[in-house]
Amino acid sequence: QDSIPFYGAHQAGIITPSQNFICFAAFDVITDNVSDIRKMFQKWTTASATMVSGSLIGNVNDNPNLPPSDTGEAAELSPSRCTITFGAGPSLFDARFGLQNKRPPSFQELPPFKADSLEPEWCGGDLCVQVCADDLQVAFHAIRNLARIARGTAVLRWTQEGFQRSTQADPKATTPRNLLGFKDGTANPNVTDSKLMNEVVWSQSVDGTAWMTGGSYMAVRRVRMRIEVWDRSTLKDQEDTFGRHRHSGAPLGSKDEFDSIKLDALDATTGKPVIPSNSHVALAHGDGSIQMLRRSYSYSSGLDLKTGQLDAGLLFISFQRDLQKQFIPIQQRLANNDKLNEYAVHKGSAVFACFPGTTEGGFIGETLF
Ligand code: HEM
Repeated sequence: QDSIPFYGAHQAGIITPSQNFICFAAFDVITDNVSDIRKMFQKWTTASATMVSGSLIGNVNDNPNLPPSDTGEAAELSPSRCTITFGAGPSLFDARFGLQNKRPPSFQELPPFKADSLEPEWCGGDLCVQVCADDLQVAFHAIRNLARIARGTAVLRWTQEGFQRSTQADPKATTPRNLLGFKDGTANPNVTDSKLMNEVVWSQSVDGTAWMTGGSYMAVRRVRMRIEVWDRSTLKDQEDTFGRHRHSGAPLGSKDEFDSIKLDALDATTGKPVIPSNSHVALAHGDGSIQMLRRSYSYSSGLDLKTGQLDAGLLFISFQRDLQKQFIPIQQRLANNDKLNEYAVHKGSAVFACFPGTTEGGFIGETLF
């Protein structure tokens, strides 16, 4: 199926199986008037529904005296499973728009974490737009046209493109590998289990914020990898860093990628845990009681001119029902002890409340604005 419906109870692009590419954009609102934001979301919704169906925005106009209603680079291209997902950052709930009382109580900027090395140009945003598609030009076209429609109401704050192995290169769609060479996404919860998705991903009415019911909270971290250092470390060190075998993706000491994680198994000779207690998986898994849905992409953004090294890593994205109960405690454990911190450093950070979906005739954000 090449086209993913835009309308529905939930926004597409959250439990949707990952596409090949992402174009992520954070925006800042430049008006003080909430009705301008509402109007922009109405236009964004119509344009997005049109674009994900593979059509051009507006009436195709041939008037040589007017700019065309669509920038045109996606003409004749297939929908490419494009999804467009919108969210609001905590700063949208400050005094500017009178939305202070609508902020979900547990939705705040993230606290600082020990290993953070954040740079302001990769942080924050009043709004976010996550576009994913199997074609980068289709994804870029969507971001570009939404930014164009936003003119006068919102401006781009930061953007990041990302990729993973394509479905052409891996027709069986096995777990993709990140730029450190490890399968990434293995232990994700099953997105076809709707009961589980209601527990882990979708905000519920009992959570107390009516306008977010059916939405989800997103954490985005732009994590730069110290690729050159990693590439000089031994296979054993690499596998001890994650707590999994590189080739199979299986937990250390197990054979199959999807074998369960046994943190209490001890090595017969050393008496130490087979999966090191400071490994990424041991710390992220903990007692297994906290889950989240990870939907990350690799990024490569050219050279860091200061060091002459690649600026590449992971655009980590996770969706959860409550950041305080899910993302924050896990990230705290990782920031304090993760062996991966030798090889990865968090440069960017943002959180967004991603709205519930809407039906035809409605608009994304209608429950808030
Ligand atoms: C598991 C990579 C950052 C949360 C994993 C796995 C890999 C990986 C290879 C094992 C396979 C899998 O289950 O997907 C990375 C890399 C990161 C990163 C390269 C940054 C450069 C993070 C962050 C969080 C996180 C920031 C959340 C705060 C998790 C969780 C698991 C996991 C919850 C599953 C643990 C389990 O229950 O088995 N990650 N990760 N990761 N990671 Fe990360």
